[in-house]
Order: sequence, then C-alpha cells, then structure tokens
Amino acid sequence: MKTIRDFDLSKKTVLIRCDFNVPMKDGKILDDTRIRKALDTIEYAMDKNAKVVLLSHLGKVKEESDKQKQTLLPVQKRLEELLKKRVIFVNDCVGEQVLEQVKKLKEKEVLLLENTRFQDLDGKKESNNDPSLAQFWASLGDIFINDAFGTMHRAHASTIGIASFLPTGIGFLVEKEISVLKSLFSAPKPFILILGGSKIKDKIGIIKKFAPKCDKILIGGAMAATFLEAEGYQVGASLKETEWIPFCKEMLKKYSSKIILPVDFRCAKQISNQEGEEKDITDLEVDDIALDIGAQTIENFKNHLKDAKTVLWNGPLGAYEFSSYKKGTKEILLYLKDEKEKIKTVVGGGDTVACAMENHLENDLYHLSTGGGATLHYLEDETLVVLEAVEKNNGSNKSQFQ
Ligand code: 3PG
Repeated sequence: MKTIRDFDLSKKTVLIRCDFNVPMKDGKILDDTRIRKALDTIEYAMDKNAKVVLLSHLGKVKEESDKQKQTLLPVQKRLEELLKKRVIFVNDCVGEQVLEQVKKLKEKEVLLLENTRFQDLDGKKESNNDPSLAQFWASLGDIFINDAFGTMHRAHASTIGIASFLPTGIGFLVEKEISVLKSLFSAPKPFILILGGSKIKDKIGIIKKFAPKCDKILIGGAMAATFLEAEGYQVGASLKETEWIPFCKEMLKKYSSKIILPVDFRCAKQISNQEGEEKDITDLEVDDIALDIGAQTIENFKNHLKDAKTVLWNGPLGAYEFSSYKKGTKEILLYLKDEKEKIKTVVGGGDTVACAMENHLENDLYHLSTGGGATLHYLEDETLVVLEAVEKNNGSNKSQFQ
C-alpha cells in the first residue's frame, strides 16, 4: 500500500481527503479530534512544498436547507487555528470558482473545498460515486492522498472515485489506524473484548470475529439485557431486542466460559437523569429499566481485566448520555488508564471514544480510533472498500481524462 511518503510532493497539487465529519451544535464544533488527527498529513504535505487541497464531507445533505447547517466553514476556522496559517476556503466543491482558486494556489498553501456532500443534492453524485464528479475532483490535482479513515467504508466519489483517476496513497492517520487495528487480529493475550451500547445487530460481526480469539467478553449496556433474557433472567422493562435472543442463546452456549454478564444494575422506572437504584439482577421488578452496570459488576469486570494484555472496547456500558448512568463506563475507563503500562486498550466506535474524550483520556489509552462504522467494518472484514480501491485502482483510469 502506497503512503504519502512514497510520492514526490514538491510543487505538486496534492488532494487530501480528510474526515472532518465532526460533531457540531449551532455551528460550533463539539469535538475537534478528527481535525487534529488530520494535521500530520497536511503539515507533511506543506513541508514538502505541495499545494494542498482538502476535501471532506460533513453530515448528510438531503435538501438545500441542510447546506447552511453542514458547511465546513467552522472546520476552516479551526484548521487555521491549529495550523497557525491561513486556510483558503471555497464555498463550493465544484465549478469555476473551485478551478480558479486551485489554479491560483501556491506551494505550502492550503485550500479547503466546501462539503463534498453538497453534490448529493445533484442526484447523489458524491454518495453514488458518480464518475464525472470523481473525474472533476481528480482533475484538480496531481496526487490523491486518502486520510479519511472514518469514511473508508463508504464507496463515494471523493473516496473511491478519485483514486481511479490519480496516483493514490494513504495518509498518516489511515496508516496508524490500520496498523493498530490489524494488530488486534493476533493481539497478545489475555485479550478481553468489552461490548456495550444498545444494538446487538451492530456488534454481530465483531462478536463472531473476536469471540474465538479473545479470552473473555464483558457485556454491558442495553445489549446485556437481551443476553440476560436469553440466559433466563427477568430483565423487567429494560430495552431488549427480542429478535436477537436466539443469537444470544447460541453465543452463550458456544462461549459459555468467555461471556461475562452483569450481576447487578443501576435501575429506574423511566429513562431520565434521576439517580436510580442499585439492584441485583434477580431483584429487578417488571417496570425496572437497567440503565448502568452496578457496583458488583464493575468490580467483577475489573477482576477479569486484571491480567489482560489487550482490550478492545466498543459501546458504553450504561446510558452514558444521562449523568446518573455514566459511572460504569467511567470507572472501567479509569481502571484501564491506571493500567495503561500493562494493558493496550483500543477503543473503537464514536460513542465509546466520546466517553473517553469526556474523561480526558485521549493520551492515556493506547488507541482511540477516529472511525465509527469504518472501525467496525475493518475489524469484521480485515479490509475496507476504500483501502482496496487505493491498492487496486491506483490511477488506472488516468488516461480517460487526460
Ligand atoms: C463517520 O462519522 O462514521 C464517517 O464520517 C462517515 O459518515 P457517514 O456515516 O455520514 O457516511
């Protein structure tokens, strides 16, 4: 796989696909991690005297009014602060203005195009990988670097399409993500998988892939209720996915000694910020909703983690969005922080990474993946559609537009 290091970037126009799809509220960036993680590649290209053109999507653009909410303008401002340098912004991602600005671009200058998904208003050209759109973007540069790890499961014009028209490589962020995630396929043992969140469907791939390899699977979050129900417990009014009970039963039978379920919960009669009450799993009433793992479960999980060398974690262990139900996730995160010399913890998936960031653990855990869906896809399939494109289609259509 070619990386940015394999190209002579000097005086070249280098297109870099970033994933600046950052959480925003009222035009304010809530978490700039993805922007900060893109800096190494951008700065490297600048240092090598490239003319740098950045492309990214932000959210979904389904109707004209979405454009105002999904503009990359706040990202341009944050990038300027982080790079300590002017970032030229074009308020479109196609057309004359784009061509003109790219033509004027000088070595070491950075230009950010507007949200690539604005082109979804025109017959979903971006998301359907329209060849003429990909060709237009490719015509802007000499080299294409894909550093948008979080988007590598999307076969879009700005991810897979451009790669078929230009010499292509990956950036430093993608290189790091792949190297860490790949290492999990033969990770040092004991290897513990921690799973939480609500949807079992989203975790099936990861369970099937890692259950045979890992030593223990600690299950929390709403998905624990479905496993417990499959085990024969009465889980009250807890969120459960009845259609997945047969799958849970099968997993519990196959991996009976590996799967560790909660023995107690913090429960309430309704989902809100109210304190809730700790209850043993056998004491749940019909109207109790399990909203976080309880104190005994936290202790049990810590005990299972004691000798771990590798931990892969996806999904919060409680209803983390409510202040009263953060404790389980937080305590286990802090435990892994304290054991960071011994345990390599890889956190994947947007929600779990957000919990780690909220607890200021960015530099205290081995790896926080910038991918959500992309991380899960890579862990399930050991590849990603865009990575394959970088390898196989590297500029293969080049002649068509020259
Ligand atoms: C993500 O946040 O997972 C990526 O940026 C992909 O975004 P999408 O789900 O809108 O395609």
